[in-house]
Amino acid sequence: MSDSIAAGATYSPASRAFHWASALFVIGAWTLGLLGDELPRGPMRHAGEFAHVLLGQFVLLLLVLRIVWRFVTPPPPAEPSPFGLPGELASRLGQFAIYALLFSVPIVGLVTLFHGGETLPLLGVYDIPSPWPRNRELKHYSKEIHELLAHMLIVIATLHAAAALAHHYFLRDGTLRRMLPFLPSPR
Ligand code: HEM
Ligand code: HEM
Repeated sequence: MSDSIAAGATYSPASRAFHWASALFVIGAWTLGLLGDELPRGPMRHAGEFAHVLLGQFVLLLLVLRIVWRFVTPPPPAEPSPFGLPGELASRLGQFAIYALLFSVPIVGLVTLFHGGETLPLLGVYDIPSPWPRNRELKHYSKEIHELLAHMLIVIATLHAAAALAHHYFLRDGTLRRMLPFLPSPR
């Protein structure tokens, strides 16, 4: 295993923090979304829905921050791999698909909330009433799309994580290590 990553070939501490915080919020929002209906009606169910919508908003906020930060500290070049250009293209395509879903899942979630005639607790501090009247049918359709996109995000992120682990344990390169949260910052 290459135990030294070339100086500067790691993600910046901020990029790593955005990555792992976003991963945790996605898994949290997904779990609350799936289990939301299992919670007993009343304050528990309401707290679950509130936490779901809040975590989902943080996912969107982190997406904006990490894209802006990508221009400030561009990601390190891909580690050389035996799969060459096709491998790099597959990784880029996977990351692009994840970005697109990190944007579209929360947005369609917001549309679902507003079609339910519900208020958006913007980052938990400011209530924005729905601009639309309650519409059960439209809520049903947007909820189906929201759920489908959410499951796609989890499936692609799982494949993405498996690829990162394969780089680490089989290809024995630095791909995973340079994204790990607790690394000395590059000089
Ligand atoms: C990455 C972020 C998110 C993920 C992974 C996610 C995932 C999910 C999942 C799996 C469901 C359950 C669908 C079902 O049981 O049919 C759900 C429902 C829902 N989500 Fe999200 N969601 C996210 C963000 C958001 C955001 C930001 C909002 C609103 C601003 C939102 C609003 C909703 C609403 C209104 C429902 C339907 C609840 C109901 O009435 O049953 N979601 N979400
Ligand atoms: C919901 C979960 C996850 C999401 C949404 C996600 C998303 C992303 C995104 C968008 C990137 C591109 C760089 C960036 O902007 O940060 C990335 C890179 C990366 N992720 Fe994840 N990730 C998730 C989970 C994981 C897990 C569980 C692992 C490891 C076990 C992992 C390992 C990596 C590695 C090693 C990179 C750098 C890849 C490279 O530079 O070639 N990710 N991830």
